[in-house]
Amino acid sequence: MEQQNLLLFFSSCFFLLPLLSEIQGVQSSSSHHHHSHRGLYGFRPTKLFVFGDSYADTGNNRKTEANSWKVPYGITFPGKPAGRFSDGRVLTDYLAKYLGLKSPIPYRWRKYATNRLRYGINFAYGGTGVFNTMVSDPNMTTQIDFFQNLINDSVYEKWDLQSSLALVTVAGNDYGAFLAKGGSAEDLPAFITRVVDQLAVNLKRIHSMGVRKVAVTALQPLGCLPRSTVHNSFQQCNATENVAVDFHNMLLQQAVAKLNNESKDSRAFVILDLYGSFNKVLKNKGEYLGSVTFETPLKPCCMGISGKYYCGSVDEKGAKMYTSFRVILLDLRTNFTKNSPIKLPEILQYVVPEALEGSQKPPTYIATSI
Ligand SMILES: *[C@@H]1O[C@H](CO)[C@@H](O)[C@H](O)[C@H]1NC(C)=O
Ligand SMILES: *[C@@H]1O[C@H](CO)[C@@H](O)[C@H](O)[C@H]1NC(C)=O
Ligand SMILES: *[C@@H]1O[C@H](CO)[C@@H](O)[C@H](O)[C@H]1NC(C)=O
Ligand SMILES: *[C@@H]1O[C@H](CO)[C@@H](O)[C@H](O)[C@H]1NC(C)=O
Ligand SMILES: *[C@@H]1O[C@H](CO)[C@@H](O)[C@H](O)[C@H]1NC(C)=O
Repeated sequence: MEQQNLLLFFSSCFFLLPLLSEIQGVQSSSSHHHHSHRGLYGFRPTKLFVFGDSYADTGNNRKTEANSWKVPYGITFPGKPAGRFSDGRVLTDYLAKYLGLKSPIPYRWRKYATNRLRYGINFAYGGTGVFNTMVSDPNMTTQIDFFQNLINDSVYEKWDLQSSLALVTVAGNDYGAFLAKGGSAEDLPAFITRVVDQLAVNLKRIHSMGVRKVAVTALQPLGCLPRSTVHNSFQQCNATENVAVDFHNMLLQQAVAKLNNESKDSRAFVILDLYGSFNKVLKNKGEYLGSVTFETPLKPCCMGISGKYYCGSVDEKGAKMYTSFRVILLDLRTNFTKNSPIKLPEILQYVVPEALEGSQKPPTYIATSI
């Protein structure tokens, strides 16, 4: 039987790997901002090279292994599942659009779309981390090795790299794997330090290969993701987890400051402050995103019917083992409840410019004891 709240069309979602669970997305107001050819500190890259995880992967994941190739992923963009961990676009796509570039092709398609190589390549694999995680796909070091091979093979020349931007995403799969492998809370701070240290090595390596600017994401508030808020009916973020996130972000900020200090270009490394941006959007009371706010901002829009299942799971007979919800939005100006299907992670359309603007000034992180 069809349930009232189970709708075929659901809304703004940003599905991540089960490791992270999914975050409910956000709807935009009526105004759409079409930014084109914007840059970073006046730098207008011609190519984008992308490393990281499901926040950035546009189809490197294998069809046989990843949920991202199942409905409802991809249904609002590109129209069917195509390997993005979202029902639409992901950070890479929005960043490319912001810069006026085409979204770079996934690495595994490089041989079939050679005309697209001029926009760069996306080496990101959903589920991966700085270190090896629960998935067998290449970690960030290996992703950078792939890039090194292409440079060695002269697929990209020095001048290509000098007009390039790298996007590096770290959305927390290292920490998901750490907890899944039984890591303890006491050992977490030391592990966070190792993750950020290795991340800094990776950022420096990408830059020393010739890429002019390197943008790295701050960690979004993991304690606000459904995996953490399901226990309290999606009402409250897990503050303990967000303290750990703050620690990661503080170390990242220090590492990036150090890299910039050691670099000829004191703005070679940039943090995309997804933490502040996500918080701003999640907490928005209508003053942001025009006049739209969310009745239950922490509630996921797609989830497995039980702990065994994920968004996109089906049983042997092909029956859906997940529910997707329409997000009901309340327009504060009119108090009109919109319930038409919403286009996808428009959250990121706002998060990206916000993050880039935020990067002009150092983000403020509060270091709390952990
Ligand atoms: C990345 O993966 C490779 C292959 O599994 C492994 O040899 C290497 O140690 C990993 N790198 C890091 C930093 O964990
Ligand atoms: C690329 O070439 C450099 C030196 O030119 C070499 O040190 C490195 O091992 C090569 N990397 C790969 C991945 O083949
Ligand atoms: C918050 O997360 C931590 C670590 O995952 C967990 O041990 C703790 O029980 C959570 N707290 C609440 C209130 O859910
Ligand atoms: C930058 O590096 C120099 C040494 O190379 C050091 O003296 C200085 O304190 C550093 N500044 C910052 C802000 O880290
Ligand atoms: C919308 O509803 C709220 C609470 O019910 C009320 O305080 C507010 O005045 C209403 N706004 C408009 C524009 O009707």
